[in-house]
Amino acid sequence: MYGDPIQLLAAAVWFILPAYVANATPVVLGGGRPIDGGRLFIDGRPIFGPGKTIRGFISGIAAGFILGILQGLATGQLSLYSALGFLLALGALMGDLLGSFIKRRANLKRGSPAPILDQLGFVVLALVFASPVLVPTWEVVLTILIITPPIHLATNFIGHKLKLKDRPY
Ligand code: CTP
Ligand code: MG
Repeated sequence: MYGDPIQLLAAAVWFILPAYVANATPVVLGGGRPIDGGRLFIDGRPIFGPGKTIRGFISGIAAGFILGILQGLATGQLSLYSALGFLLALGALMGDLLGSFIKRRANLKRGSPAPILDQLGFVVLALVFASPVLVPTWEVVLTILIITPPIHLATNFIGHKLKLKDRPY
């Protein structure tokens, strides 16, 4: 189905790109009021913590959706790609939120690293949210799961160098 590994890689990146954009946007456009409003969970710890803001959530979904629309315009499949863009972005932000919820339950402070969860949580939920519209081939799913952690770490490192992020991971 995929002539060579480069084609498979391109198919994986093309499909998951709205989730990447949605996940990265809050680093630049986020801030302000936290989603949990500073409230604590029954264990006395923050629900999500101050790193999860309303502005970050909304800007991330909007950015992923806009990218999906652009992909749709580029391919002539506007309804398919705009639906995918929205669902991948929503899933990515929900996965990010779920990751923070789990981290707070484990008493990990905002910004502390949780390997695998930080790098893959958002992309797994993005795939789940998009699945009612489209499930990629297993080769594409596997490629996404393999390439996402190094891409996530590399973009975070660059974001740190550009002084957008206070931590390099
Ligand atoms: N961010 C945001 N709103 C979101 C998600 C992220 O404003 N919904 C911004 C915050 O400034 C956050 C930064 O993007 O600090 C990086 O996101 P992330 O690494 O996911 O958050 P952490 O600060 O590491 O917090 P946590 O420990 O909860 O993962
Ligand atoms: Mg983090």
